[in-house]
Amino acid sequence: MTRAPRPGFLRAMPILSGHARLAGILGWPVAHSRSPRLHGFWLERHGVDGAYVPLPVRPERFAQAVRSLADLGFRGANVTIPHKEAAFAVCDEVAPSARRAGAVNTLVFREDGTIEGSNTDGYGFLESIREEVPGWRADRGPAVLLGAGGSARAVAAALLDAGCPRLTLVNRTRARAEALARELGGPIGVAERAPLGDAALLVNTTSLGMQGQPPLELDLAPLPAGAVVADLVYVPLETPLLAAARARGLAAVGGLGMLLHQARPGFARWFGVEPQVDAALRDFVAAGIPPR
Ligand SMILES: NC(=O)c1ccc[n+]([C@@H]2O[C@H](COP(=O)([O-])OP(=O)(O)OC[C@H]3O[C@@H](n4cnc5c(N)ncnc54)[C@H](OP(=O)(O)O)[C@@H]3O)[C@@H](O)[C@H]2O)c1
Repeated sequence: MTRAPRPGFLRAMPILSGHARLAGILGWPVAHSRSPRLHGFWLERHGVDGAYVPLPVRPERFAQAVRSLADLGFRGANVTIPHKEAAFAVCDEVAPSARRAGAVNTLVFREDGTIEGSNTDGYGFLESIREEVPGWRADRGPAVLLGAGGSARAVAAALLDAGCPRLTLVNRTRARAEALARELGGPIGVAERAPLGDAALLVNTTSLGMQGQPPLELDLAPLPAGAVVADLVYVPLETPLLAAARARGLAAVGGLGMLLHQARPGFARWFGVEPQVDAALRDFVAAGIPPR
């Protein structure tokens, strides 16, 4: 449902009707989240009669808060740290995407009162590469993934499920990478050093390179000419890893695109509009993030 036109002097204020659709993001803390800004942009662009709000909820109140949101008529919510695992318990149905990722990041409150949980991080990651590297496919060659944390799991599962022929995990804590490889199964292994020589894709899922963290020290020289380098970090927008990839003439994909694309399925379900990721959205959400 779209909003009625409003007088010019009210243009900066969201005007909701009694039918307004509501969604939000559950986290603790949640003040750092860019999701309200992101969804707010799409709500405004599409003139949706609705709102997307930050929902700071303590871990011990999570389940109760989710049920209350459903009772209050919310359409659903995003779930972020530290609730992504706890969210399984409140779902009546969990999509394979969430089971594979080991985390729920999107809740849909259905009309029949049941709650559906899914995970859109892996989808967002794949879509961000497809957007920035036209024609890219996960089955086009081996991939190397640095890290073995929460985001590594979502990205690794998405790559394997999209046909990646061989995936190698490299992590500071090797045992964590081994456990992840065992859990996911398929053509996935663990190595001490990144096997870049035949890699079609290199992904950083560690926090190295993030503002305030040490840079990721990795010589990209062995990567083949057609390789793609992706970094989940988006603060700064251009990490030293991405700058090094570009300097070598390689395609480089930053983490902001994943953040934007992972939001699309939830917005479509809650607000009934398929939103697009474009330059205007990027600029709006990236405002204030250091470029490098
Ligand atoms: N673009 C997006 O939409 C998006 C989404 C999710 C996350 N992210 C970004 O992805 C990054 C990781 O997030 P996460 O949720 O996966 O975190 P996490 O679960 O805490 O995992 C962190 C990973 O980084 C590694 N690591 C941390 N410090 C390190 C160091 N000094 N040297 C080597 N390895 C180190 C950890 O290795 P150990 O196992 O040895 O501790 C682990 O593999 C963050 O920068 C986050 O902002 C981006």
